[in-house]
Amino acid sequence: MSSSELAIKHWNKAPLHHSERERYANYPWLYQAAEFHEHEGERVLEVGCGTGCDLLQFAEHGALAVGIDITPEHLRLARERVRDRARVVHGDATHIPFKAASFDYVYSHGVLHHLDHPRRMVEELFRVLRPGGRFRVHVYALWSYWPALLVLRHGWNWKFWIENSRDPVRIDLYSATKLRRLFAPAKISIEKVGFEHVPALQSVLGWFLVAKGQRPSNEA
Ligand SMILES: C[S@@+](CC[C@H](N)C(=O)[O-])C[C@H]1O[C@@H](n2cnc3c(N)ncnc32)[C@H](O)[C@@H]1O
Repeated sequence: MSSSELAIKHWNKAPLHHSERERYANYPWLYQAAEFHEHEGERVLEVGCGTGCDLLQFAEHGALAVGIDITPEHLRLARERVRDRARVVHGDATHIPFKAASFDYVYSHGVLHHLDHPRRMVEELFRVLRPGGRFRVHVYALWSYWPALLVLRHGWNWKFWIENSRDPVRIDLYSATKLRRLFAPAKISIEKVGFEHVPALQSVLGWFLVAKGQRPSNEA
């Protein structure tokens, strides 16, 4: 089964639906990392918007926000959440259904590491960004406290315990080197986050890598 088929099956059956309060309590670093409040009046695309919690934050801070996802149940819940404040469109991260240079900012949290062809998503992200437009992509970190804890708790099948149900879904963990290679030749900066209990150790043990970059402005 392809990663898309697995994803649809997984999240149709067990949708990731949290209130805003729960989500930002679970991810206290996310509000700042995603830059929800910095895109007023800009065209923002969220790739893999899930049930629309982050998409709504962009919209509420004045962005012209559009989210795409491939899972019907997530699309339905996202539409229900954002109503007329943002657009929610069915679309694949590896074939984004928008013209080149349609967006000022592209954001994606927890999606790239579920894809069979992550490089295709990176190419699409650069295509739909305007020259000079910025992006943020959040992926699971390989070197982090969380996989280590899961291996201790669940042994060889630890990957089945990462998402919100035991249904299989593709999951790749990223080192900073692997992530830089994926975006090359573009340069990205990477921050490790998600170990807020001990802020001093966050850059070593954090569970997410936040990749930040920009489409070069001298390209056509
Ligand atoms: C772990 S969830 C994250 C959802 C949301 N970004 C969040 O943080 O709550 C992964 C999401 O990626 C979506 N997804 C997986 N493969 C995709 C693809 N090829 N194109 C678009 N969305 C995809 C899934 O449907 C799911 O909504």
